Amino acid sequence: MRLDKYLANMHIGSRSEVKLMIKKGLAAVNETVIKDPGFSVSEEDKVTVSGREVAYREHFYYMLNKPAGVVTATEDKRDETVLDLFPEELRRGLIPVGRLDKDTVGLLLIMDDGALAHELLSPAHHVDKKYLVRTDTPMKPEDAEEFAKGMSLKDGTELKPAILEISGADDCEALVTIREGKYHQIKRMLAHCGHSVVYLKRLSMGEVSLDPALKEGEYRELTEDEIALLLGIKE
Ligand code: URA
Repeated sequence: MRLDKYLANMHIGSRSEVKLMIKKGLAAVNETVIKDPGFSVSEEDKVTVSGREVAYREHFYYMLNKPAGVVTATEDKRDETVLDLFPEELRRGLIPVGRLDKDTVGLLLIMDDGALAHELLSPAHHVDKKYLVRTDTPMKPEDAEEFAKGMSLKDGTELKPAILEISGADDCEALVTIREGKYHQIKRMLAHCGHSVVYLKRLSMGEVSLDPALKEGEYRELTEDEIALLLGIKE
């Protein structure tokens, strides 16, 4: 692969930015400075930029604290998308894992590993998704029982058992854990119990929790441990 392509693929900069870095003599391959952007490198070569190693990576994994008002899509004619929150040079191949509603905030995994994204969403893998929810009216223990039984919605949708843990002084706040990811699932489950959702935030997906240091709209790469936890579902 060309050196400029390698560096762009490893998210060092856009193709034109990395070309400039190479021409300035900042890149080295196996300790030799290379000024030709077309120089051929392989995954086994030791590539550095400004002395820092740029190891080959097959995939990139991020967590985003999704803000309200952006849609979970890779492109949209009208609305800002979750991918618009990433700089252009990082966006290539990225896909959101599942969908949060436009007004839902919190943890959204975004990666370029389509196979893992597919596994995480597959019903066979039982990946728990935990949310913090606030409703317009107080929730009751009977609502938690409805969740636990599994619900048949009026439109015929059958939902598997889920967990509703009511908290907060006014009983208008709860933790909800679901395994499926049906359209507007939590809003529809709570509507079935007579409540409207006024705030919804995803806190975790499988073993991976939203980093509390991330403000809404911010993202960071997953750590190796977090990636291993996600990959663990395949075993
Ligand atoms: N359930 C919903 O109703 N909306 C979401 O965004 C996620 C789960």
